[in-house]
Amino acid sequence: MSQTQELNVAIIGLRVIGRTLAINLTKGFRTVMLASRDYTAAQNLANELGKFAQPKEISAAVKEADIIVLAIWFDAVGEFLQQYATQLKGKIIIDSSNPIAPDPKGGFIKIIGETESAGQINASLLPKGAKLAKAFGTLGAASLAQASGQTPEQAVLFYATDDHSIQPAIEELIIDAGFEPLYVGGLDQSIRLEVFGDLHEFGALGKTVHLEEAKEKLLNPDLAK
Ligand SMILES: NC(=O)c1ccc[n+]([C@@H]2O[C@H](COP(=O)([O-])OP(=O)(O)OC[C@H]3O[C@@H](n4cnc5c(N)ncnc54)[C@H](OP(=O)(O)O)[C@@H]3O)[C@@H](O)[C@H]2O)c1
Repeated sequence: MSQTQELNVAIIGLRVIGRTLAINLTKGFRTVMLASRDYTAAQNLANELGKFAQPKEISAAVKEADIIVLAIWFDAVGEFLQQYATQLKGKIIIDSSNPIAPDPKGGFIKIIGETESAGQINASLLPKGAKLAKAFGTLGAASLAQASGQTPEQAVLFYATDDHSIQPAIEELIIDAGFEPLYVGGLDQSIRLEVFGDLHEFGALGKTVHLEEAKEKLLNPDLAK
């Protein structure tokens, strides 16, 4: 067990992305607390995933976890940060959200300004003493499920944070989920990691990439087309 694996992880929100991530992490032998507004859903998923999964009420997960992965929609993140502001002090929060909503044509539209990102907006709402990273939102759920543990070359998950001290913990978690981590920069780079961004599967990237390709695209945004 590595040093950062000793950090307790909780996933909040257990539907599409939360469930996929819970499956990936437990397959990677990482213990995760599973929390949802519906405790029965947490119990059911934990029963399905076995000994590495522990069901929790959200308040207990927030209290016990060192790393909290928010697998909830963008417009619920601000509310969550406000509700648990005191308890989140000192915690690492991972924001997977994309600032989008379904459009009438069956696609998605961005629900914030063209040049804004969920990462930066959520950073502005971050409780004092909490640490934020943007990760686990760059692939659609199908790819997040299918590309986990890919061989011979792992698929990359990009991440961003302003806090260098949490990079080892974020990278360990991405590795445990079956991916190769690649640091993009600070949260001012979040827009690149969100839907329509040049490093998002549903943006200019268009697919999963392995490390060499990812590094090239990271340095040369125009290549991600
Ligand atoms: N789906 C994808 O392919 C994909 C890819 C990349 C990133 N993401 C991002 O991942 C996040 C989750 O997406 P999803 O597809 O998993 O959505 P989803 O299937 O609709 O699940 C949303 C989850 O958020 C929970 N939730 C909503 N409001 C909450 C609140 N105030 N407090 C606690 N939990 C709350 C819901 O809980 P209940 O079950 O109690 O309603 C549900 O578990 C979004 O931000 C999305 O942009 C999704």
